[in-house]
Amino acid sequence: MSDCNTRIIAPSVLASDWAMLKSEIERANQSGADWIHLDVMDGLFVENISFGPQFVGAVRPHTELTLDVHLMITHPDRYISQFVKAGSDRITVHVEAEHDIAATLQAIRDFGKQCGLALNPATPFDAVVPYLDQIDLLLVMTVVPGFGGQSFMEEEAMPKVCAARNYREEHGLSYHIEVDGGIEQETVHIAGENGANVMVAGTSLFGAEDMAGAITAMRG
Ligand code: DX5
Ligand code: ZN
Repeated sequence: MSDCNTRIIAPSVLASDWAMLKSEIERANQSGADWIHLDVMDGLFVENISFGPQFVGAVRPHTELTLDVHLMITHPDRYISQFVKAGSDRITVHVEAEHDIAATLQAIRDFGKQCGLALNPATPFDAVVPYLDQIDLLLVMTVVPGFGGQSFMEEEAMPKVCAARNYREEHGLSYHIEVDGGIEQETVHIAGENGANVMVAGTSLFGAEDMAGAITAMRG
């Protein structure tokens, strides 16, 4: 289990060629990715609709990498067992969604999986403070969730990444700090300098000619 000071690179499958899913996952395996990030969207919590547990299950047999599942859905509590059965290793839910947050986080851990909490660019850091001692990962969104290919929202997100790192040190906690959206060769270093260690990237990795080279460069 990597600690929160290790830089982790997690390609986001949303940006891959879904018609070639097996070979895209194999490309990520061979390119030195640490985790595979899977964006689940319900068309209610976010504008877009992506995929569900069956898609995660399709990916599972083709990789040993950690499956980092990001639930951008309104009622995540209803689906935890299905995503666990599909092969998720980590499940992240949104603080803005409609559920008993502490209960959902506990349910993920009761299945023996790692739990994460995500907050959108417009959501203040204070909204997640009550839960920081119950999570393995904090996802600070660096775009408005729903679509890949957007621009990194530095002003909105970096102060929260800093605050999350300070809070973790002050309280002796050990959650990962993940950023997601608009992460590429420049912004990855800005995020790292502010305290993020898990870098989710879709367009800049699955869209890269040389994914292995892009991942190596992101490790800095
Ligand atoms: C957006 C997703 C991100 C997205 C990242 O809602 O959570 O994971 O796929 O895509 P890029 O790296 O293209 O911004
Ligand atoms: Zn995501």
